[in-house]
Amino acid sequence: MLRTHTCGELTKEHADQTVTLCGWVAARRDHGKPIFVDIRDRYGITQVVFHPAISKEAHELVGKVGPEFVIKVTGTVTVRPEKLVNPDLSTGEVEVGATGLEILNSSLVPVFEVDEHVEVSEDLRLTYRYLDIRRRKMLDSLTTRHKLCAIIHDYMDKAGFLEVETPVLTKSTPEGARDFLVPARLNEGKFFALPQSPQLFKQMLMVSGIDKYYQIVKCFRDEDLRADRQPEFTQLDMEMSFVEENDVFNVTERLFQRIFKEIKGIDIPVPFPRMTHREAMEKYNSDKPDLRKEGEDFNLTWIVDFPMFKYNQEEQRWESEHHPFTSIKEEDLKYLESGEYDKVRARSYDLVLNGNEIGSGSVRIHKKDMQKKIFDIIGFSDQEAQKRFGFLLRAFEYGAPPHAGAAYGVDRLVAILTGLDSIRDTIAFPKTQKGNCLITDAPSEIDNKQLLDLGLMALKKGDDDA
Ligand code: AMO
Repeated sequence: MLRTHTCGELTKEHADQTVTLCGWVAARRDHGKPIFVDIRDRYGITQVVFHPAISKEAHELVGKVGPEFVIKVTGTVTVRPEKLVNPDLSTGEVEVGATGLEILNSSLVPVFEVDEHVEVSEDLRLTYRYLDIRRRKMLDSLTTRHKLCAIIHDYMDKAGFLEVETPVLTKSTPEGARDFLVPARLNEGKFFALPQSPQLFKQMLMVSGIDKYYQIVKCFRDEDLRADRQPEFTQLDMEMSFVEENDVFNVTERLFQRIFKEIKGIDIPVPFPRMTHREAMEKYNSDKPDLRKEGEDFNLTWIVDFPMFKYNQEEQRWESEHHPFTSIKEEDLKYLESGEYDKVRARSYDLVLNGNEIGSGSVRIHKKDMQKKIFDIIGFSDQEAQKRFGFLLRAFEYGAPPHAGAAYGVDRLVAILTGLDSIRDTIAFPKTQKGNCLITDAPSEIDNKQLLDLGLMALKKGDDDA
């Protein structure tokens, strides 16, 4: 180790010890002879004082360091006089009197100050994200994200769930958005799709007998972006066999109880209230009403009994409200027969947190005939259903158990837990609202050789011969 302590660690307990710290120069203040340097790392900031009386050499060298230089400082911990204690720093009781200094690397003058109190445009922050992540706000958000995932893994493991990875190169499964496509070089003219969610794979894992599955998983959707939407985002995805709605609610509620307790120190009451979709629409004109009683408060509510279908006026056809693998309330099966599709309610549910859709799921169809009937209503011919979902229908012929599940938006949850307006700030390297990665400048053009290898030709919208 190049260092003995981190920059957030030293207190008066360490008085008189010789320590070595490594980090970035957050500030340098020249007060004639003494020169003060604030040295920063992920853990905090420590004040270091350079004085020719302690080390002439170090004092001379520190004159050369600029903002964000990487330095290694050796020195002695001294307790600051009472009136000089800085209550804003965890290390504010002490300072380090430098006996040695090594410049590990220089830095260009940073394009913005690495201080979260300084306003910086988002484009600039995203272009220099590595500098932005040095700022407290991003660090806190990434730390909360890590804690959340650690709690999820621990909780799901103890509850007997098995994490199983599912493919990233796959066949498109509809969740209502466009797919991102990947040309398959070895199968000219064919494409993989990046998964919008692992929906069908987790259902097939139920057929395999993995009765409790979960995965913290990347999903990809080519849709218009907003503050709460990214083209690649992360879900906590789960599925269980031999269960009903209440079992999914139960597992989720206990998980969220732990998350809120361990991250916010808050006891959230369970079970969460439930409201039917109809009531939400009638009372609040929204399927994700914000039901908070106070400003600072958190409210988690299940919205249940969504309609199974909605009518797409433009295309003049019925489509599924959640997804076509959702089962139907027993008492509404008669409306399937009578063709009154608008009256059919699904066994689906959304989890709403402070007016945000944080998750959704359903009890699934597990019988082939019912699945085919739903495909038929939403306009997939037998042939088309077979082509797109034949693999699922086949799996249903080999003893598919009753099953149900849900998926929760990890990015959205972190944003709400940390009070951020945009999920972009919960992701180390997010896309802009236009779907670009400013740090790498992706997506970018590829050269003709690559296109040729893939058997592709790039056309621009409006090209005459398109
Ligand atoms: P759904 O499509 O509702 O359900 O997605 C589940 C949750 O994922 C989050 N989410 C997003 N977060 C950020 N950016 C996006 N573009 C984005 N899209 C969705 C939301 C949402 O509630 N397979 C089903 C779940 C199931 O039935 O088990 C599914 O993906 O918080």
